[in-house]
Amino acid sequence: MIIQDNEKRLFTLQTRSTTYQIKADQNGVLLHTYYGPKLSGGDLSRLIRFADRGFSPNPNEAGNDRTYSLDTLPQEYSGSGAGDFRLPSLELELSDGSYVADLRYIDAKLQSGKYTLEAMPAFFGSAEDADTLIITLEDAAAHVRVELLYGVFEAYDLITRAARIVNCGDTPVRLHRAASLCLDFPSADLDFITFDGGHVKERGLNRTRLRPGVQSVGSIRGISSHQHNPFVMLCEPGADEEHGTCYGAALLYSGNFEAAVERCQFEDARLTMGIHPFHFCWTLEPGQTFTTPEAALLCSPSGFGEMSRQFHRAIRAHLLRDVWQDRRKPILVNSWEAFYFDYDHDRLLRFAREAAALGMELFVLDDGWFGHRNDDCSSLGDWWVNKEKLPGGLGALSKEINALGMEFGLWIEPEMVSEDSCLYQAHPDWVLNPAGRPYTRGRCQLVLDYTREEVREYIFQALQKLLDNANISYLKWDMNRALTQVWSVALPSGRQGEVYHRYVLGVYALLERVRQANPHTLIEGCSGGGGRFDMGMLYYTPQIWCSDNTDAIDRLSIQYGTSFAYPPATMGAHVSAVPNEQTGRSVPLETRGTVALSGTFGYEMDLGTLSEEEKTLVVRQIQAYKESYELIQTGDYYRLTPPSPDGAPTAWLHVSSDRRSALLSVVSGQVHAGPPFRRVKLRGLDPALRYRLTGDDTPWPGDVLMQAGYPLPMLGEYQSLRLWLKAE
Ligand code: DGJ
Repeated sequence: MIIQDNEKRLFTLQTRSTTYQIKADQNGVLLHTYYGPKLSGGDLSRLIRFADRGFSPNPNEAGNDRTYSLDTLPQEYSGSGAGDFRLPSLELELSDGSYVADLRYIDAKLQSGKYTLEAMPAFFGSAEDADTLIITLEDAAAHVRVELLYGVFEAYDLITRAARIVNCGDTPVRLHRAASLCLDFPSADLDFITFDGGHVKERGLNRTRLRPGVQSVGSIRGISSHQHNPFVMLCEPGADEEHGTCYGAALLYSGNFEAAVERCQFEDARLTMGIHPFHFCWTLEPGQTFTTPEAALLCSPSGFGEMSRQFHRAIRAHLLRDVWQDRRKPILVNSWEAFYFDYDHDRLLRFAREAAALGMELFVLDDGWFGHRNDDCSSLGDWWVNKEKLPGGLGALSKEINALGMEFGLWIEPEMVSEDSCLYQAHPDWVLNPAGRPYTRGRCQLVLDYTREEVREYIFQALQKLLDNANISYLKWDMNRALTQVWSVALPSGRQGEVYHRYVLGVYALLERVRQANPHTLIEGCSGGGGRFDMGMLYYTPQIWCSDNTDAIDRLSIQYGTSFAYPPATMGAHVSAVPNEQTGRSVPLETRGTVALSGTFGYEMDLGTLSEEEKTLVVRQIQAYKESYELIQTGDYYRLTPPSPDGAPTAWLHVSSDRRSALLSVVSGQVHAGPPFRRVKLRGLDPALRYRLTGDDTPWPGDVLMQAGYPLPMLGEYQSLRLWLKAE
């Protein structure tokens, strides 16, 4: 609900558990008065105190009042060059060469339903689900207007934000920074939590106290990156899964981003999030508008767990689209870790028969099926089948797979081109690279210039031809290198600062076109695993390959970190062979299953190497996936114990929304002699109900399981447990 008081120019955004308030003061400065646990309302600007602070200058409207400074007031969307020296939200370069952005309130309007963003991902919602507030600000001297967009999803405590920057003057304006989100906090006594790592070690949780100055994470790699996720949190120092106020902020964007937090001089704090200003410069001609990506904010007054669950619910209902919102994802088998590039028709078919016999539902042909690709140094861009490997083509292969009772899926990497390809030979100027400059290669490949319509058109036609000529019900959309030499022949020299963002818009445009032309095709996002695991991609690809690291023990940390913002049912998770390709570790098949069963489940190994006993276990795992999918898809997720370097077990719980059934998963780490007796305290159950646990005839009261905990059996190294709880 949005309460608008026009007289006081006061806007109060009320959600189920939180309040967010904005006020335009007597000078038109847009103040942020409060965000946190729900309050009854009223004008909270009375919380703001004024004092004469040396070296904090006073805007013209303040006259001689030295207590009024943009440098000390909590701002809703900070300007720059006009007296607020904290993190800026907006940086403009005007035609006279000045760099000032100083915004004042013009007006505000409410709309029912959630605003939409043209050509960019955004949460969606009808009048029943969401409301929109649009506040217009203006820098009168620059003739630039800023529309701040707010979407309020009351039931989910979700507030989305975006900004539209409009050049209302008659000379061009250059935009050097346009944040999606600016959030001021009255106290900097906060912890900053980020999700960091690298390729094969994505989204590890890092927590640090705010120190004076700016701390930031971001990406200048052209993708949201393996290194830092565009999701960050701030929380009270004592906050944990169940306690304390915490804030989560996500950017729905798959390119360069920055999330920065500043502990300021008076021990207040500011968070900004948006497109990274690195090499960003966007020219707005008179009358033109620039729209920022959307940011999603969620505050939980009761710890991280509830924040995550609210994000999960909101993503499932208002970000994932169409049929994939509810439909069970098929159990897939992927050829990559089974054969890499080394296969032909007969080998694939043998593999498919084995998969079908075990009950797998979707056969995914990964890299290596096109052009003359036998390693990763050729053929990207030549999206036609390699007839030496697959003489009958994809049409015939998909028919054979379908005849085995499985769907057929295909790997593509449509944003890339190999120099050793017909596409590159025909169009060497279609790559991102300044003319005459030597290439920087990544995995031997170059990046196509997706800012250009003709490039996207060519790729669309090539992909559509594949989709029209074979029965392909799944695409794995991969992307295996970072962007360098970011320069497009299609833009003049003064506008090259637009290329990074135009590239992302180009990727979104093509994804949307493919999606719309093939609404029943499931697209799984992938960027060398989790290099683009963000809410922007989820809008187009309802599942994303979590990591190229399929080691079940490493996956515990990767999936744990990912779960803070993203629902388990969006995380691609496969059982692979041992010793694991990445770590050399051998983990029992049962445990590999326990970990993968918490995501979008599949197998990625040569099934021909399985013993009869292992095959029986695989069949049981497939059955287990079918039985638990709905709970995992629609239930609530509880992180019970975090993955631990000292080897203590990691535990998590899925609980149905009526709290009558739940699924406990536990994986033991390294084991040392003389281990302690361990109990794990469950959460989210009904304390008054009694639950029957798998293999235990005596029911357990919910309050005992939650307050005293469930006594774990002695698990050996890397062993696991998967227990159902059913209310009597
Ligand atoms: C990177 C992906 O993450 C892998 O799963 C696989 O598809 C390879 N690319 C293929 O080149």
